[in-house]
Amino acid sequence: MYVATASDRARLRDRLASRLEADTADVGTRRFPDGELHVRVEDELAGEAVVLADLRPDEELVTALLACDAAREAGADRVTVAAPYLAYGRQDRAFETGEAVSARALLRALAGNADAFATVDPHASPALDYFEGPAGAAGAAPELAGALEGRGVELVLAPDEGARERARAVAERLAVPADHLEKRRISAREVEVEPHEGDVDGRTVALVDDIVSTGGTMATATRQLLDAGADAVHVAATHGIFAEGALKRLQDAGADAVLATDAIPSPAAEVSVAPALARAVRRARPG
Ligand code: R5P
Repeated sequence: MYVATASDRARLRDRLASRLEADTADVGTRRFPDGELHVRVEDELAGEAVVLADLRPDEELVTALLACDAAREAGADRVTVAAPYLAYGRQDRAFETGEAVSARALLRALAGNADAFATVDPHASPALDYFEGPAGAAGAAPELAGALEGRGVELVLAPDEGARERARAVAERLAVPADHLEKRRISAREVEVEPHEGDVDGRTVALVDDIVSTGGTMATATRQLLDAGADAVHVAATHGIFAEGALKRLQDAGADAVLATDAIPSPAAEVSVAPALARAVRRARPG
């Protein structure tokens, strides 16, 4: 098995290869004068090639498609796309008439060039059904729990019901209780979070979610908890997008620590997603 990437992800590629006990393959990329990308897998491949792919920003999707095609041209019999973050996963259905089902469009494009798909903490797992072929997902709860260890966390909270299972998985590993808050989304940038009914007074709380995008969800929840007397609030997420000054928004809200995996590169990416991604690749095997 080989792990190759045409994205700027050599460190994650090496870590993933080591987890999968695979070799790494070198991939060369350059731009034609018109700006179009050229991808070449420089090693001869055989058997399974795992193509580590970022799917954001948008042009990374083209990079991923070309890398899959190049892997096959280089001799791979089977190509698995390993995307640490399933971009567009939140648009997994048409919320209004005429909207693109973005996750479907993206996964269909990938399925046209790869045999299997693996990812970590997709926003909604059913979206993986849009990939025609074996698809595997794994949660990064063990890795997030590891990053929260030693920080005195006494309670793990999910900012909404959808994130409850992840929070519970993290809490179990830290041997502390878990609960969830009630969130109401007002717009893409604004949310309301109901005050937590349990006692947070004097306690150190970890807020755990799949994605931090604008940080609106986590910042609002952090403020609520600090107002309710929490001693400290740590924010942890698998995917740290940190759009529109989210990190500052979280600091301003009073978050003590902000932790994310390197599924998306960011200044808060303190945790390697490689172990979770390796689990997902194994789950994406047929049969
Ligand atoms: C939505 O349900 C997700 O799980 C996250 O809570 C959401 O994407 C976070 O977005 P933002 O950081 O912009 O509030």
